[in-house]
Amino acid sequence: MKRPYSYIAGTGHAVPAKVVTNDDIAAMGVETNDAWIQERTGIRQRHIAEPGESLSSLCAKASLQAMARAGVQPGEIDTIIVGTASPDHLLPSQAVEVQTALGCSRAAAFDVASACSGWLYGAIVGDSMIASGAADTVLVIGAEKLSAIVDWTDRNTCILFADGAGATVLRRARGGQKGIMSTFMRSDGALAELLWRPAGGAAEPFTPETHGTKRQFIHMAGREVFKHAVRSMAEATDRALDMARITAADVDLLIPHQANVRIIEATAKHAGISMDKVFVNVDRFGNTSAASIPIALNDAVEQGVLKEGMTVLFAAFGAGFTWGSLVVRY
Ligand code: UT7
Repeated sequence: MKRPYSYIAGTGHAVPAKVVTNDDIAAMGVETNDAWIQERTGIRQRHIAEPGESLSSLCAKASLQAMARAGVQPGEIDTIIVGTASPDHLLPSQAVEVQTALGCSRAAAFDVASACSGWLYGAIVGDSMIASGAADTVLVIGAEKLSAIVDWTDRNTCILFADGAGATVLRRARGGQKGIMSTFMRSDGALAELLWRPAGGAAEPFTPETHGTKRQFIHMAGREVFKHAVRSMAEATDRALDMARITAADVDLLIPHQANVRIIEATAKHAGISMDKVFVNVDRFGNTSAASIPIALNDAVEQGVLKEGMTVLFAAFGAGFTWGSLVVRY
């Protein structure tokens, strides 16, 4: 069987209505400022959920848009995959909550825990399920409510992370060249503690004492993570291009994980892709982890930047560490 096995039939995204600017964070008493955040990350503002706003509702909104664009009814979805590090509940999965919200009664639903690579890993799993014959139509979502697991006094993380959901419908490709042309995924668990939540899991259950330690929040060694992100995103772009048997000159658009504009620029430079062919929206959305690529994808579609027939390179990097890439003929 030859690629492409699946293609992106529809995209959607949803973010909370509330916008938080860099000045708003400084006004909360965090020792930071708009100039530093813009210069070191490229972020101007981000969307943050209200406390009662569920991740499930963001997922459902993004998914309904993607399904409408794909012309897919809830009953046609075979599999729902949600990439997230901040599910509404630790048990059961975010994906079954989304299934119920959407009424996809025929679907199997499960989460992928790959942090910022969550949507990309999910898309590779979905593509593989379609290739194996296990599914024809897969809803792949990347979604985060990171505001709930960020320490709002830690300027290393709270200026970076944000909330949102992006959804894509993958369908079986039936001939032609449109679809996923190559996939690459890697992990390195030896470096897990550079970006993690120490407490709250079974190893260190949440107790009243946890509260004071703040170990239930995201802890990140920013500078170390930055270095690994640049190196791994470079490997990821190389490998996906090689496997698709194309070069950077063939790429019409690079849609990278929106972690930090300096990581994006380094990735583009390594790949030899000029910044006018790189989609950047970290300035408006911040780092939404697993949601960042599918939000950027839908933003690119809605802005008319991504057009049918284009060759798109996706690259992600996240906690784990996990990293990966895709080449897609859109
Ligand atoms: O999503 C996937 C995984 N995550 C990432 O890819 C994130 C990777 N890391 C980063 O994006 C960056 O490392 C950060 C944005 C987190 C930090 O930027 P940086 O350029 O690596 O800053 P730094 O930690 O090296 O700090 C530089 C200086 C320090 O001051 P001194 O020691 O030079 O006097 C920090 O104390 O900036 C200071 N600083 C800040 N100042 C104002 C650190 N954070 C802030 C802040 N506001 N928020």
